[in-house]
Amino acid sequence: MLWIMRFSGCFSAVMMMIALSPSLQSFPPIETSHKFSFQKAPAFHNADECNSPTFGKLCVCDPSLVHVAITLDVEYLRGSIAAVHSILQHSKCPESIFFHFLVSETTLETLVRATFPELKFEFYYFDPEKVRGLISSSVRQELEQPLNYARNYLADLLEPCVRRVIYLDSDLVLVDDISKLWSTSLGKKAIGAPEYCHANFTKYFTGYFWSDSRFSGVFSRRNPCYFNTGVMVIDLGKWRRFGYTRRIEKWMEIQKTSPTRIYELGSLPPFLLLFAGHVAPIEHRWNQHGLGGDNVRGSCRELHPGPVSLLHWSGSGKPWIRLDSKQPCPLDSLWSPYDLYGHST
Ligand SMILES: *[C@@H]1O[C@H](CO)[C@@H](O)[C@H](O)[C@H]1NC(C)=O
Repeated sequence: MLWIMRFSGCFSAVMMMIALSPSLQSFPPIETSHKFSFQKAPAFHNADECNSPTFGKLCVCDPSLVHVAITLDVEYLRGSIAAVHSILQHSKCPESIFFHFLVSETTLETLVRATFPELKFEFYYFDPEKVRGLISSSVRQELEQPLNYARNYLADLLEPCVRRVIYLDSDLVLVDDISKLWSTSLGKKAIGAPEYCHANFTKYFTGYFWSDSRFSGVFSRRNPCYFNTGVMVIDLGKWRRFGYTRRIEKWMEIQKTSPTRIYELGSLPPFLLLFAGHVAPIEHRWNQHGLGGDNVRGSCRELHPGPVSLLHWSGSGKPWIRLDSKQPCPLDSLWSPYDLYGHST
């Protein structure tokens, strides 16, 4: 039964079994103990020119799939659901996308199945204890959520046959076909992301870090640029080969045990330490970031110039909160069409 639930998007035989077996038909109602309620998304189907997936037991290993990893955090659930909806809506081959949901509680699976009945997905339980001892308090408390660190462990969590994944934050929507992002060349690099070489890189680390060459020496002979870890294309094969998970943990241990901290933010700095200057540059259209602005000052952001394929409400304001409080920023109206929150009628 569990196995059927996990892979129920994968092959028609399972659908047959569900149709034939009344006991499997009765999914619980959409509302969960969290009192979340989402409308059922419309069905999205592949265009004729899409590769038809090869059905089989190990459907997740099908080489024609696009793999997307996203966290389902209770606080950000509305955003995650909107992100999935936006991806499906703009994809020519939505049935060729496999979603890898990272969760710290398992009760959300029914909700996802009810909202997206035909979605191919798998849930991965990320144990908060895995990082609890490694997290040091950061300037923004929401950055300390253990699930923020789940992206460090994708190479361990996902099946070994999954060799590339797109990691996405929960506060974004796509307005373009994700297959374009998927087919980006990473060259010899392990990760790809839009880079921001004009950002002042110094500020992501403390004076203590820069004053000690044992730390800052890590950037010598590199031209490090800031990149946002909310949108990354990751070569999981390289990641596993070079043991990046353990290397990230090492930096977190240094941060935790240093007499003075070496950085202020949460999960981002270890990524900068490992990859800044070694990132395959992806077009900036794939991360129009910062739209969350700064809720404290109530600032709204404009779009950066240039084409847009992905809108990212990074920063402390979130569109669903502002829309609910009837104080939206102008660009929040671009998020609303993907929102599925609310009772079905
Ligand atoms: C970059 O930031 C550091 C630390 O905040 C500051 O000391 C330095 O002057 C900044 N550099 C530029 C070019 O703005």
